[in-house]
Parts: sequence; C-alpha cells; structure tokens
Amino acid sequence: MRVSVKVGQLGQARDGVVVYAALEGEQRPDRLLPPYAARDRAFVQLVKGSGFRGAANETVLLPKGRGWALVVGLGKMKDLSLEQARQFAGTAARTARARGFRHLVLPVLRERAFGQASTVAQALTEGAWLSLYRYDQLKQVPKHEKNKRLDAMTLLIERSRDLGEAKRGAEKAEAVVEAVRLARDLINGPSNIVTPTYLANHARALAKELKLKCTVTPFAQLKRLGFGGIVGVAQGSPHPAQFIVLEYHPSRAKATFALCGKGITFDSGGISIKPSAKMEQMKYDMSGAAAVLGAMKAAATLKLPVRVVGIIAATENMPSGTAQKPGDVLKTLSGKTVEVLNTDAEGRLVLADCLHYAKRYKPDCVVDLATLTGACVVALGAEAIGLMTKNERLAARLNHAGQATYERVWRLPLWDEYGPAMKSDIADLRNVTNTGEAGTITAAKFLEEFTEGLKAWAHLDIAGTAWSEKDKPYVPKGAVGIGVRLLVKLMENWR
Ligand code: BES
Ligand code: ZN
Ligand code: ZN
Repeated sequence: MRVSVKVGQLGQARDGVVVYAALEGEQRPDRLLPPYAARDRAFVQLVKGSGFRGAANETVLLPKGRGWALVVGLGKMKDLSLEQARQFAGTAARTARARGFRHLVLPVLRERAFGQASTVAQALTEGAWLSLYRYDQLKQVPKHEKNKRLDAMTLLIERSRDLGEAKRGAEKAEAVVEAVRLARDLINGPSNIVTPTYLANHARALAKELKLKCTVTPFAQLKRLGFGGIVGVAQGSPHPAQFIVLEYHPSRAKATFALCGKGITFDSGGISIKPSAKMEQMKYDMSGAAAVLGAMKAAATLKLPVRVVGIIAATENMPSGTAQKPGDVLKTLSGKTVEVLNTDAEGRLVLADCLHYAKRYKPDCVVDLATLTGACVVALGAEAIGLMTKNERLAARLNHAGQATYERVWRLPLWDEYGPAMKSDIADLRNVTNTGEAGTITAAKFLEEFTEGLKAWAHLDIAGTAWSEKDKPYVPKGAVGIGVRLLVKLMENWR
C-alpha cells in the first residue's frame, strides 16, 4: 500500500472514500472530527438520521458530494486514547476494503489525547495497515475477493507546519508494520513449512537484506558444543534444530540488547504428549522467535542507535524413538543439569541455553519472549503479557513501552520463595514443579537460574497474547505479532 501525507481538508479529497470521526454522547450531536467537518450541516443531519451513535468502531457509509464518506465512531471523549486512534484507523481501512474501495483518505486527528502529530500519524498508519493483513498465500482466493484491495492511503492534516512530523510518523509506521507482518507470516505458517531450517533461512535472508551478521549452528554442532537444553528437545524430531544468532551493530550504539526467542516450530508435547484438541495451534509456539526477528528487522530499518543481538533456538518438540523421555537428565550449556520430568515443559530448556549464550555479549539489557506456559493464559488471558523481572527500572521501561504500544505487560513476582519448587533430587534443577502451583512464575524462576551475571533481564510470557481467537480492529484472527512493537518502543526509548 502507498501511504502519503498531505495538507488539506477532508471535503477536498477527490477520490476514494473519505473517513470522518464521530464522538459518542456529545452534548452537541454535531460533534464530528476534525472540527471543520461539522460545518456541513446537511451531512451532519444525514449522519444523525442514519441512527449512528458514534460508539467506538461503529461505522456508517454515506454518500457525500459526488463520492462516499465513511463515518467511524471514536467512542466517548473521556475515553479517547492513542489506542482508540489505532483502532479507528483499523476499522476504517478494513471497512473500506470490504466495501470495495481502493483508496482511503484519513484525517490526522489533532486531539490532545493523541499526542504529537508524528505519534498520531504513526498510530493511524499502523492501525490501518495492520488491519489489512491476511494470511492467504496457501489458498486460492476468488477473483472478486482478490480485487478487494486498498492500494493507497492518504493522511490529511490541517496545518502545514505539522507536515514534516506527520510524514516522519507515517514512515516509522511503515517499518514497524513490515516487521509485524513478517512475524505474523512466520507464526501463521504451518509447521510443515515453517521448520527450524525455514526460520534459519529467513534469518539469513534478513541479514542479507539489512546487512546484519547472522550465524546459524545446526543440530550436529549443537550436540558437540554442549547445547544440552536445545539438543534434548530437538532429538525427537527429524528436522534438525537451528540455533540462530542475528546481530545488528550500528557504529554509534548507546547500548547492547540481547533478545532471546523461543522458536518451537511445533510443540506436540513430546513423549508427554498434549491432548489432540487444539494441538494444531501449537505452530504458534515460535511466536517469541518471530517477535525477535521482527524487532530486529524494524531496528535495522529504522537505524536505531542500539546494538541488538537476536538469539533464537528453533526446533520442534516431537515424540519418537529418539525423543527424550520423562526422567532423563540433560546438561545445559551453562553446565547445570536438569531432570526432565515433563517433556512438554520444553521452552525453558531451549531458553536456558539461549540465556546462557547471551552472556558473551555483555548486554545492557536482556529480554526473552516465549509462549512458555498455559498457566499464563489462565492468569492473564489475551490482554496482557506476563512480565517477570527483578529489575525495577526495566520493569518500568517495559510497562511504559506497553502502555504506548498497547502491547501491555503485567508483572508477576519473581520472589525467591518460588525457587525451591524447581530443585531436583538427582540433578541441579527439575523442569516442572510437582505441585503445578504458580506455573508461570516457577517457569521464570527456572530461567533465572541461567541469567547469573546478566545486568538486566526480563522474561515475557506471551502464551496468551501471541494468538488471537477473534478479529480485532487491527489484529485479524490468528497470529498477533505481539512483542515487535513493544521491543521497538523499548529500544527507541532507551537512554
Ligand atoms: N507451549 C506450551 C505453553 C502454551 C500453552 C502456549 C498454551 C500457548 C498456549 C509449553 O511448552 C507447555 O507445554 N507448557 C506446559 C508446562 C507444564 C508442563 C509445566 C504447560 O503450560 O502446560
Ligand atoms: Zn510444551
Ligand atoms: Zn512450548
């Protein structure tokens, strides 16, 4: 899609569908945004007469002049937020496409609740563009559906002095959207296509495109090098595991980030096999890895002044004659041994090696992302990422980035009293507790064992947030691409 930013008023846009915003429950029922739109009394009467109330994401399509106007509700004035702007744009774009329009004209609303022109322009562009995402590369799309395609979007601003800022915002959005789309494609991709090797090849392609450094260590070498956590999980699968390290290193880097991603391309549970209901969803068990790849793509495209090392353990978790078995003891890269009491608690085993490996980069900040526990889905559902860290500063930064992007995090404690549950009688650690209590926290305590010496570490459990069971204004059902925007914001704000 082409995105352009222009100075002008909505009524003046010549082609495509023009979007108006409406507030709900206003004293003056003619409250349309931007304000000049309300001068068209006849149009305001038409909107009112249609029964339209202005509730958030409500829409009505009406004739206006020689063209069409799409009125989209913003909800109540007191609830206005940047997130509402994102959803507004998403609803507008998706509705316009469904109605067969090719070109969308969107006002850059300058309400105080939205912040600077660049911020609003970025949010609107992201919302609109992300809403149009669909994963249709594996099916035949009927011609009339294929033709429904938005080719262009014009953002209109009122004041010419906002033009530069708005353009910058829209440009930034483009880089972010491309990164989120990459993550979504990888996650939606079925596990017979998106194999560990496929992820490695993708990382190599990304490195080539963006001049990153990329090293991939395949299964046979991992065995020799002592990556016992990854090997233990991978040994049941005919697809060789791939340990992927991507590095973006600009010359004037302010800080070094290590981003670790769980890349289980399919989690069957292994010998501790999962029930078959919804097992097909376990292709999304590499959403952490996808977020890391997306964030690195965005960081490099935006030329963020930070060094970023992406560390991904890509493997399947399968049952077979060579698979690890409950009771097996493996030796991780750190030297610590683990008694594997449940082969379905595999994410922590591969991440243990990633976190230990991260130490060699002496990072200022380490964040790992993983669809780690079903318990996190139970605790927080689809609205919040589980955040666990002992670093108050990093918690605050992630919280702030979460508010700004609406990829919100919610902190759970990492108190040491939770630690003993992960101790084994015959090894240094066990990979599951024997009570099943505090599953999300105890998983994080397990990971913490491999972070000794790291400056600042945070664990993000994205099990509940990585996959959406329903269509949302700018997140179609399926892969969310969660974490990409959060990480980009975290790195952008670092100082
Ligand atoms: N990938 C799963 C966690 C998961 C569950 C992600 C549901 C998304 C949706 C993980 O590897 C797993 O199986 N964890 C086990 C751990 C348990 C055996 C301690 C779980 O949560 O049941
Ligand atoms: Zn599992
Ligand atoms: Zn898993």
